Amino acid sequence: MTYKIWLQAYLKHPLRLGAIFPSSAALASLMVKHINSDTNGPVLELGPGTGSFTRALLRQGISEQNLVLVEQSQEFVKLLKSLFPKATIVCNDARNISRISSDLGIKKFDEIVSGLPLNAIRDEQRRIICNESFKTLKPRGSIVQVSYLPRCSIPNSVISKHSAKKIYCGVTIANIPPAFVWRAEKC
Ligand SMILES: C[S@@+](CC[C@H](N)C(=O)[O-])C[C@H]1O[C@@H](n2cnc3c(N)ncnc32)[C@H](O)[C@@H]1O
Repeated sequence: MTYKIWLQAYLKHPLRLGAIFPSSAALASLMVKHINSDTNGPVLELGPGTGSFTRALLRQGISEQNLVLVEQSQEFVKLLKSLFPKATIVCNDARNISRISSDLGIKKFDEIVSGLPLNAIRDEQRRIICNESFKTLKPRGSIVQVSYLPRCSIPNSVISKHSAKKIYCGVTIANIPPAFVWRAEKC
């Protein structure tokens, strides 16, 4: 059922999804392994889709109440609301993170996890999303980003602008397609 929703969304907007299958549990574990289980502030997930990274965040010890999921697709939002009833789930564009967080009364997120297909998003839009993400992230927090290419898809110019540190987290071939993970830690 979940995959049927994914496939329908993929056929409608292939570039918005960027992958023909949801992420594997192996990739999801790599995405969240740097996050401490005692993180008790809000954690933002961008582009949760059918919830692969969301489940990994819960396995990592993050409480469902502390999760804020921002997803553009209404079909995925409906599914996510049934799977994670205690999380805050917002149907919106990731470009609007500042407005979304201020509407929710959230000053800063402890961590940001992004499954957005940043490489398939236009340069300007990508820069806006990454800038907005850094603005709403606490110092010492990270933006972790998946990439299907062997390069970090958070622009270097944005990383330098926010004096962040780029860290390579690894690659997993146990995913279709194989995926690379980088994170940018805010100083
Ligand atoms: C590659 S899928 C990743 C889904 C899930 N995180 C996973 O790994 O299985 C990308 C997700 O980002 C969402 N998305 C794409 N552009 C977006 C945007 N500008 N704002 C919010 N969500 C977006 C898509 O609808 C899709 O759910």
